[in-house]
Amino acid sequence: MQVTMIAAMDEERALSRGGRVPWDLPADVAMFRGYCEGKALLAGRRTWEQMRGWFRAGQLPLVLTRGSGLEVLGGRVVGTVGEAVREARERGYGELVVIGGGETYGAALGVAGRLILTEVHGRVGGDVFFPALDPCEWEVKDEVHHAADEAHEFAFTIRRFERRVIEPTDDPL
Ligand SMILES: NC(=O)c1ccc[n+]([C@@H]2O[C@H](COP(=O)([O-])OP(=O)(O)OC[C@H]3O[C@@H](n4cnc5c(N)ncnc54)[C@H](OP(=O)(O)O)[C@@H]3O)[C@@H](O)[C@H]2O)c1
Repeated sequence: MQVTMIAAMDEERALSRGGRVPWDLPADVAMFRGYCEGKALLAGRRTWEQMRGWFRAGQLPLVLTRGSGLEVLGGRVVGTVGEAVREARERGYGELVVIGGGETYGAALGVAGRLILTEVHGRVGGDVFFPALDPCEWEVKDEVHHAADEAHEFAFTIRRFERRVIEPTDDPL
């Protein structure tokens, strides 16, 4: 099962400020929507509450929570990332996409094999952050730059990272 995390953050890894994403980048949103089409999606309970009504047919919304009382249209709640992976697999999905927010990215980072990260070229003074990455663990495979223009207040760069495979060695040292 491929586990991918997709996020947009500023140069200080800020994801949001005051409960909302403080930029409007239509080309990045279009990429996000396209990538999420037809996939199992894992959202933290707070992010899911902000995104109600956003999910489309063919997607499987899974909501990470320690509670149990939520009703998730077309999906269900999960108590762990592992449970989300199992549920997605059992329902025939080949990829689970983690769509945030900060706590949920932190919980899923250890099992993710791919990151699709948009770096917004600015500093917005955020209050929710993407976890720090160990550059030894991740390799950039694609990079697309988008300049600021009338529709995009900030320039941004979308990068696809894949987790590096550490080859086992026979020689212990
Ligand atoms: N820029 C971006 O790409 C992006 C993407 C997504 C979201 N966001 C922003 O991120 C913010 C929300 O992020 P957030 O960190 O506050 O919240 P979040 O990750 O969306 O949701 C947090 C909730 O998820 C549940 N949870 C988290 N870790 C868990 C674990 N290990 N086990 C079980 N349940 C767990 C808990 O739900 P319960 O309290 O129900 O137990 C927790 O309160 C929003 O402002 C949103 O706009 C930005």
